Amino acid sequence: MMLEILGWASMASAALLQHTGVATTQDGVHLTYTQTGPATGQDILLIPGWRQTAAEWRKQVDYFSTRGFHVTTYDMRGHGESEKADVGYRISRFAADLDDLLTELDLTDLVIVGHSMGCSVTWAWWDQYPAAHQRVKKLVFVDEPATLVADPNWTAEQAANVSAIFDTITPYNLAANMETQLPILLRSMFTDSLSESDFEWLLSENRKISDENAGTLFVDHSFRDWRKVLPLIDVPALVITGAASISVAQGVAWEATQMPQGQSYVFSTEEKGSHFMFWENPERFNSIVEDFVSN
Ligand SMILES: *[C@@H]1O[C@H](CO)[C@@H](O)[C@H](O)[C@H]1NC(C)=O
Ligand SMILES: *[C@@H]1O[C@H](CO)[C@@H](O)[C@H](O)[C@H]1NC(C)=O
Repeated sequence: MMLEILGWASMASAALLQHTGVATTQDGVHLTYTQTGPATGQDILLIPGWRQTAAEWRKQVDYFSTRGFHVTTYDMRGHGESEKADVGYRISRFAADLDDLLTELDLTDLVIVGHSMGCSVTWAWWDQYPAAHQRVKKLVFVDEPATLVADPNWTAEQAANVSAIFDTITPYNLAANMETQLPILLRSMFTDSLSESDFEWLLSENRKISDENAGTLFVDHSFRDWRKVLPLIDVPALVITGAASISVAQGVAWEATQMPQGQSYVFSTEEKGSHFMFWENPERFNSIVEDFVSN
């Protein structure tokens, strides 16, 4: 399928180009993507979380593209600038969308950085498309529990050990009360040092997907369990979490112990280790990811 090229814009640095285009999924949905930096650079793909957008990666896009990386971001189905399709708000379809994008852009020797639900999309893609593993060099998973909903019979400690932070009713309640819950939930994903103007902008990005589609996706996403996929991640993998996150850092860091070549880094509270540490402490986040990719 052909890409529709929307435009080229010169960046401040003469060598850097930014290209925004549209990829078409096999079920005909248009996904907006942006590629920044020298085409010959190390490819890195940044996948946002649930309700989040490619624009929220700008502190990483700026950093990595000016350091020679070729950075791709995209808005998932129904999110950000991508088409607001009526169907497909399931992780399995989002994994297929990712595979369609990788195929159209022919990304290889690739580093994928997934945030939050972007990790689940990557785990689902890894599970469903083994032939495509050859595209990948390394993987970075930013603060996503391998299973969000706790088995009702688990002890609190068992749930915390895998960061299963929801009981079985929470995903449905959140989906049913999305309009009032979204600002509260989004606020909880940051430390208190987030500025009001940043919060308002992030909230407006979150509202680009409808509450209805976001709710459908949230329920599907919450009930997936990726624990048995982790041992299949046979490339170098970095798991990042934070002591000030809504996740249980110990339960997220545990994922790295399940991956044959896994390692983890836990942002402290002082390092602004929230669910959005890449927004709140981009200096630390970017250097950790760059070290992992380069060494
Ligand atoms: C929880 O444990 C009880 C007692 O062993 C069992 O009857 C029940 O089926 C379990 N429930 C779930 C949801 O696994
Ligand atoms: C939770 O994890 C800790 C640290 O790895 C371990 O010592 C403990 O046995 C685990 N508890 C359960 C219930 O799995």
